[in-house]
Amino acid sequence: MTGGFEAAGCAAKPALQAAIASQMHTNKQDTFFMAVNKSNAVLKVERLTKQVASVDLDNEEPLVILDNISFSINRSETVAIAGPSGSGKSTLLGLLAGLDTPSSGKVYIDDQDIFALNEDGRASLRAQKLGFVFQSFQLLPALTALENVMLPMEIIGMQDAEQTARNVLLRVGLQQRLRHYPHQLSGGEQQRVAIARAFAPRPKILLADEPTGNLDTRTGKQTIDLLFELNEEHGTTLVLVTHDHDLAQKCRRVLQIEAGRLL
Ligand SMILES: Nc1ncnc2c1ncn2[C@@H]1O[C@H](COP(=O)(O)OP(=O)(O)O)[C@@H](O)[C@H]1O
Ligand SMILES: [Mg+2]
Repeated sequence: MTGGFEAAGCAAKPALQAAIASQMHTNKQDTFFMAVNKSNAVLKVERLTKQVASVDLDNEEPLVILDNISFSINRSETVAIAGPSGSGKSTLLGLLAGLDTPSSGKVYIDDQDIFALNEDGRASLRAQKLGFVFQSFQLLPALTALENVMLPMEIIGMQDAEQTARNVLLRVGLQQRLRHYPHQLSGGEQQRVAIARAFAPRPKILLADEPTGNLDTRTGKQTIDLLFELNEEHGTTLVLVTHDHDLAQKCRRVLQIEAGRLL
């Protein structure tokens, strides 16, 4: 009996080993795919809500700007956020970059809960991974176009910050405006400096608020091409708030937002 058992055990052993190996293989595969899935979502938003106290004295109800928004964006994806004026697009983009804090909900960048970090932690994460183009540009008035573009690269200690800034400004057609201060530039030129500043450090994620809003058709098209070249050349994830139908159509996915809700 014992011999039989042993014999059976011996006979079963290779099968058992195979089963364990196969299970381990499956587990390894699962772990592998989990890891892939985990790292694929470069940006994840969970039940994000932003409300502010009403400034209307007759109304004590808080003003809900964003209402329970959830979505996930994969590495190298191109996503447009579209919707009417006042629907919450800029507020959402600011929260994705941790420039503003939500009333509730979470934002993860590369699986890091950004609101679990303090201000300094978020600033450091932004410097390492994000480029942000503000709707109002937010160039530093005391710095030239070249210096504005160099600054984020110098903060993270990038080599060749000046040469990279020159190259990028050339790509946005501003090689003749390097020494101009923001007040000496047109709205469209300031916007191109803001775009150059955001993408010069080759961020993993580029968030841009109406990046073609102040550009004429020709420079608008050049800028769009540039953003998508960045996506193709470096796998940069693009999240673009836009009213521009052509720009939205070029994105792989369009998130439609209305009155603070994702449709
Ligand atoms: N700090 C704030 N305090 C009060 N209301 C705000 C604040 N920021 C934005 N809002 C309001 O939230 C809504 C969404 O604004 P915003 O995100 O700028 O919209 P969009 O970019 O889609 O035009 C608007 O109605 C705006 O007036
Ligand atoms: Mg806006």
